Amino acid sequence: MAVLGIDIGGSGIKGAPVDLQTGALLGERFRVETPHPAKLDDVIDAVGEVITHFNWRGPVGIGFPGVIKQGVVWTAANLHKSWIGINAEMLIARRTGCGITLINDADAAGLAEMHFGAGRGRRELVLMVTIGTGIGTALFMNGQLVPNLELGHLTVRGKEAERRASDRARSEKELSWKAWSKRLNEVLLYMEQLLWPDLIIIGGGVSKNYAKFCEHLTLRTPVERAQLLNNAGIIGAALTQTDEAASADDSDDFDDD
Ligand code: BGC
Repeated sequence: MAVLGIDIGGSGIKGAPVDLQTGALLGERFRVETPHPAKLDDVIDAVGEVITHFNWRGPVGIGFPGVIKQGVVWTAANLHKSWIGINAEMLIARRTGCGITLINDADAAGLAEMHFGAGRGRRELVLMVTIGTGIGTALFMNGQLVPNLELGHLTVRGKEAERRASDRARSEKELSWKAWSKRLNEVLLYMEQLLWPDLIIIGGGVSKNYAKFCEHLTLRTPVERAQLLNNAGIIGAALTQTDEAASADDSDDFDDD
């Protein structure tokens, strides 16, 4: 079954059809700029552009950079506040005529990595951290997602973690990779100290530069780069159109003990 996966980010809205069996993208990714300010109607129009580009009439899974509960947006730290309180799942379905499922973007990326990437077959506590405009986090135990974990908003050195250590903070403050990775390391150490995960997977826009910062991380937890890189968000969003979306338990690698 093919589903169109769309990842709404602070700088770009990316989409591609996804083969749910294999997690492979079934075509070139298509990206449009995220409108600024990222108001509800303008972003929905941009999502519509992605759907039209693929001439898509089938189901669509969308990753959103904020807390989502039953289709309703509760937070949108890096988008316009016009999103707050809106049942965006329903609204986007009405505007586009497609069946829509909406999920937090980091949860989506985590689902993809648990199904097809660095977390495949891992039953222990896995923390996915996506680093782009913001910092997103997703937690899995026994392959099961605990949704809407918002550790990017922890306070580190008196400031929100994502304001100190997101990829946006790195480029806006023109930090060297080394200086930025020290900040990231502090944030990850704090998360580690709170959660004691068994594996941390790092994804998001910054994952393509993993080699530039991984050597500066001093965590006791094993850290791996997201295998699906920045496509994890698209693939995981598409996965939400399956029944077992919130679980990676159908992976072949799990023992049924
Ligand atoms: C949001 C999260 C999101 C993360 C990454 C944060 O600002 O609160 O929900 O997952 O950014 O986009």
